[in-house]
Amino acid sequence: MNKKHLIEFLKTTGIQELRTFDSIGSTNDEALDWIDQGAPDFALVIADHQTKGRGRFDRRWITEPGSSLAFSLILIPTIQEKTNLPLFAPLCGLAIHDAFLSLLHLDSEIKWPNDILIDGKKCSGILVEAAWMDNEINGIVLGIGINISAESVPPLDLQLFPPTCLENRFKNPIDRYQVLQEVLKFIQIWRPLIGSKRFFSEWQRHLAFKNQNVMIMHSKKQSIIGIEKGIDEQGRLVLILEENQERAFEVGDVHLRPADQSLIGGKHA
Ligand code: BTN
Repeated sequence: MNKKHLIEFLKTTGIQELRTFDSIGSTNDEALDWIDQGAPDFALVIADHQTKGRGRFDRRWITEPGSSLAFSLILIPTIQEKTNLPLFAPLCGLAIHDAFLSLLHLDSEIKWPNDILIDGKKCSGILVEAAWMDNEINGIVLGIGINISAESVPPLDLQLFPPTCLENRFKNPIDRYQVLQEVLKFIQIWRPLIGSKRFFSEWQRHLAFKNQNVMIMHSKKQSIIGIEKGIDEQGRLVLILEENQERAFEVGDVHLRPADQSLIGGKHA
């Protein structure tokens, strides 16, 4: 990892403290440990390579050296923020969307609740975790992985949703630390707006699969198909089911996919 280059890009970002690793198990694990040791708000853990990168639903997240961004940002939440925990993943989604737009003029989409899609393929994943102390949340970890170059795109047999990377779209190489700088900038912009009208309307505006037939997988056995109406004021995904009935799904133990997309490798996205 070129630490000097990284630090240049972090100068304007408000990062309070930094831990960098050439190789690590998972930046989220390191960040959770750091919170226990007293990490400040807006502290950053970043690694060039992860050997035990984790995704949602205990899935693996592969980070090959030099090819992607893998970082975990620590937030020490205010009392108000603690009431909005489920909205921190979409906050990252909005920040990544806006970063791609401002830096690359690329209008990505947010697959509810929080994957980032380019041309319908997954380019970035988000894993938000909370650190607890005596039944109180004392820190939030925003874990973000962004595929930058072709080497970051995992093999098809490990795929849960068709993957892509940023450089797929552009001829010139993309500086991953510039992408990081921009994402951090937009996290700071969106943070005070979390849960606001604007927050929900922007999330809604960039939502993937709107008005399309989608399938919600509740568990390995139960799936529900409906038309994606959008999100409600609690961030739940609203589907229109048969006979025009609406049903809202909480962010949590559900998977979303377009209804006509067959399972890849028999797994859920
Ligand atoms: C997903 O799509 O399921 C979420 C993937 C999140 C991956 C990032 S990479 C940085 C951070 N460290 C981890 O172990 N996971 C997150």
